[in-house]
Amino acid sequence: MARINRYTILTVLVLFIEFTNARAANEKIFMDKLCGSGAIVLDGDVKPGTAFQLSSSTKFQPNFSCTIKFRTAQPTQRLVVTVEQLNIADCPSDTLRIYDGTTLLNQDVKQQCGSPSSFTFTTKTTEASFTFATGKTTKTASFKIAMAIHFAAVPSCPQNLGFYLCKNKNCISKSLKCDAHDHCGDATDEFSCSMVGK
Ligand SMILES: *[C@@H]1O[C@H](CO)[C@@H](O)[C@H](O)[C@H]1NC(C)=O
Repeated sequence: MARINRYTILTVLVLFIEFTNARAANEKIFMDKLCGSGAIVLDGDVKPGTAFQLSSSTKFQPNFSCTIKFRTAQPTQRLVVTVEQLNIADCPSDTLRIYDGTTLLNQDVKQQCGSPSSFTFTTKTTEASFTFATGKTTKTASFKIAMAIHFAAVPSCPQNLGFYLCKNKNCISKSLKCDAHDHCGDATDEFSCSMVGK
């Protein structure tokens, strides 16, 4: 009897964790609703990754500028920034600029606007920021960006301790596997996922 109860409690707990994880993965963060807010902290236990986008393909006001910032909780952690999709029509008047600390990562204007294929960076600092800015005129703009902590100081990135070693050697949280976002940067966390989700 005691054994059954213990398993029941465990099952309920696991289901609850799965449920809250699924909810977190489906939560949509709109960058343009968070302009200028303080740094969003990515943390190994609570929030090892996230994803954000612009409000759906909106035409923004001219001279609009919005910056959001992310940082890691621990100094040894880095950030994997993956631009999964980018479509900024008024190019190069409207741009998305991505910074690693104060260094511009997407220096090539072809990665700041237009419709490039997906690209990724792993930061050298603990901070990444994003500035979306429009010019004197503006057309539609959209993008989807996935972020994950790269646990740079974890030796061999062991799965049994909750990590996932991407093919490109980024070490991310196993909880980010199969959530429909490319947190690795090479999408290896989204390979071999069942069609029905997790
Ligand atoms: C946008 O900024 C430019 C340059 O500062 C200015 O000439 C223009 O009038 C501004 N446009 C709007 C709609 O505010």
